[in-house]
Amino acid sequence: MPQTIELIMPDDFHVHLRDGAALQFTVPDVARQFGRALIMPNLKPPVTSAALALSYAERIGAAIPPESIFTPLMTLYLTNKTSMGDVRNAFDAGIKGFKLYPAGATTNSDDGVTRLDLCDPALSMMAELGMPLLVHGEVTDAAVDIFDREAVFIQTVLIPLRARHPALKIVLEHITTKAAADYVQSAPEGIVATITAHHLLYNRSAMLVGGIRPHYYCLPILKRESHRAALLQAATSGSPRFFLGTDSAPHAQDAKEAACGCAGCYTASHALELYATAFEQAGALDKLEGFASVFGAQFYGLPLNTQKIRLVKESWQMPAELAFVGTQKLIPLNAGETIAWRFDGVI
Ligand code: DOR
Ligand code: ZN
Repeated sequence: MPQTIELIMPDDFHVHLRDGAALQFTVPDVARQFGRALIMPNLKPPVTSAALALSYAERIGAAIPPESIFTPLMTLYLTNKTSMGDVRNAFDAGIKGFKLYPAGATTNSDDGVTRLDLCDPALSMMAELGMPLLVHGEVTDAAVDIFDREAVFIQTVLIPLRARHPALKIVLEHITTKAAADYVQSAPEGIVATITAHHLLYNRSAMLVGGIRPHYYCLPILKRESHRAALLQAATSGSPRFFLGTDSAPHAQDAKEAACGCAGCYTASHALELYATAFEQAGALDKLEGFASVFGAQFYGLPLNTQKIRLVKESWQMPAELAFVGTQKLIPLNAGETIAWRFDGVI
């Protein structure tokens, strides 16, 4: 009998679904494995108001397969102009948080924040309401090396931000460094972090050895092995400060395989298999349920999902490509590779 694991149905607390026709492809993938997902607001134009988020949620809802129990959890895009009233409206509309993209940090971040001090009134209101700030934690200063941008962000932006707003709940999204794992583990309470499957499994050599492999390019960029090891240690530590956020980010094949390729790894199709592989490597499959199904829900004040899912230790081959909008293709991470765990569905 192959080894099996049963988990409380997991949630993905960081995913990019895009909009329009893309939803027909991205939503069923996420809805197959997760009970809920926190939907990132970096559309073009960005999702900056409760009204925009609610209509986006309806479009997502229309793409959820009929048998699925999936619920999207909506977020808003913080800008220099986000007001206290915007925060109050968002809270009243059930929005789960605001996402801070430093302007220029990543995909569709051009409308992001250029001066965080301008957001202080909005951040005070979020702290008062208990609404979390979700942070893309990289500085954008051209003088700071891309591999150092997360560590510098913690020192120069995050620590001063927490000093100004000690009651603000913060999620440091998709952490990639030992500095971030150590900071989140030891900082005063109120800060947590999401970790992607790709940052648990790969270091920068996966992207750069034997040729440039654009499907491993994401932001924050993969770091050296010591950082991957520290992230895996944090994820499998059993600390409720670390939980699952795939950062699955679809870009069509031609936008990835280009002279200036887009950042993002598509993992929504096989996310739980990748996390199980990483946790098994660390000898910590018993810690997967807390990380995938419990700690995130607890942080966001949500009940645990009542369903369960099963994973089976059984090899299968990831397709070389997935269908995407029109004639475009989506190349998932691990395209054509053998995956050791298989998602066996909701039980
Ligand atoms: O790799 C990434 N892709 N990182 C991000 O922060 C954004 C995302 C996207 O939207 O494509
Ligand atoms: Zn993201």
